[in-house]
Amino acid sequence: MMQEVLFTNCVEEAIERLCRDAKYDRCFVLCDSNTHESVLPRIASALVAEAEVITVAAGEESKNLDSLAYVWGELSLRGATRHSLLINVGGGMITDLGGMAAATFKRGIDFVNIPTTLLGAVDAAVGGKTGINFAGLKNEVGVFAQARMVVISTRFFDTLPREELLSGYAEMLKHGLIDSETHYNALLNYDITSPDADTLLPLLQYSVGIKQRIVEQDPQEKGLRKVLNLGHTVGHAIESHSHKHGRAVAHGYAVAWGLVCELLIAHRALSFPSAVIYDLARFVEQNYSAYAFTCDDYDELIALMRHDKKNVGEKINFSLIKKIGEMSLDNYIEPKEIEISLDFFRDLFHL
Ligand code: GLY
Repeated sequence: MMQEVLFTNCVEEAIERLCRDAKYDRCFVLCDSNTHESVLPRIASALVAEAEVITVAAGEESKNLDSLAYVWGELSLRGATRHSLLINVGGGMITDLGGMAAATFKRGIDFVNIPTTLLGAVDAAVGGKTGINFAGLKNEVGVFAQARMVVISTRFFDTLPREELLSGYAEMLKHGLIDSETHYNALLNYDITSPDADTLLPLLQYSVGIKQRIVEQDPQEKGLRKVLNLGHTVGHAIESHSHKHGRAVAHGYAVAWGLVCELLIAHRALSFPSAVIYDLARFVEQNYSAYAFTCDDYDELIALMRHDKKNVGEKINFSLIKKIGEMSLDNYIEPKEIEISLDFFRDLFHL
């Protein structure tokens, strides 16, 4: 069954309907220190006003075992039962952490995700991947658990900084590459420098639909869903590299660069058309700039790619596309080939 994703600006109505129908005994809200201040007061629901609020510090650093234990502890202390509901209000950090806390507390309680960032709406909040970072690796520990409902309201995006919007937009570009030339070209032609909720909404709805259809067919990433990792094998390596070297970049930025790099790999392995790569590289350079690295970083980047959960043994497994809309899963790529693509990437971005 397709996960229920509701696009509405009446968030409170959606939550109240769910709670009325499902008869939860208690309602808990998980948020971070930023959303506690900026978003919770905007959800004028009696139910949310009465809910027990659990707050963790804002930032990716909170997506860890300590925060998970804290959420478990608060749920336990404040009397949550198996019939309680956890409402996760925030970006990907909150929906990943809260989803995992809910999926494991008393062997699993219901949860609702209310993403407050574009990245969360288009990716993290939808599809049932939950988890925390562990031992320096992103999403190293987690479980698959579908939110009972995802409620998306673009009204929370109006105060998002440009960097946050671009971060989410990179995942939309990924969905476009996986889906069709029509949708992908609509994304490349959209003026992301001056977005507004009305024009972004149809693109976002279509983009979320792409993910929903894939997840519905393969919720646990046994096959088809691996295509959603396009851009992420290199992207996660860049993201981890940036954190290790004290110049942290946003997830979506790393994905944007990862997409270019992995299309270069697809060009050599599967004859992916180079014209599409040039167009994407220009779009990425204009909007996301570049991630600077030299050939001295290759070994470290490739070592980080080896930690990817898709790998079997020493091989590095890439989810690629042969052309827009045509996926190719389980491509085992030699490190030498990855290095050549990193060389091309540096050429394209004049590094
Ligand atoms: N973020 C990729 C997925 O949900 O499978």
